Amino acid sequence: MLKRFSVSLEDSLLDIFDKHIEERRYSNRSEAVRDLIRGAFIQKEWESDKIVVGVINLVYDHHQHKLQDKVTLLQHDYHHLIVCTTHVHMDHHNCLEVIIVKGKGAEVRELADKLIPLRGIRDGNLTMTSTGEALR
Ligand code: NI
Repeated sequence: MLKRFSVSLEDSLLDIFDKHIEERRYSNRSEAVRDLIRGAFIQKEWESDKIVVGVINLVYDHHQHKLQDKVTLLQHDYHHLIVCTTHVHMDHHNCLEVIIVKGKGAEVRELADKLIPLRGIRDGNLTMTSTGEALR
């Protein structure tokens, strides 16, 4: 069941919010507010010991000395979190490794924080998502 509540905002903040709504093509403010609230609570789940899912993307040059070994070793250290890993040979030098993870938010973050700063990783990020189950 949907419930209504009213919100008071400064003009300047409302302008920023309305621009956000336009950019994201929300049909109304309520949809956008719902997404912001969900986003905030999903973030909270990620900081807790709740089970979450995520994707770690790594782009790297496989010629970088021992990088591939380090990426593999770390994944074995955290094998209990890893659902699957897909490796794409992008071109002669570059590889994309997509690691799908599931586990406690803090542990998943720990693995990503060890992989992404490795020397030779050209781009790396962790996308966090959740069913929001824990919020209900
Ligand atoms: Ni490759």
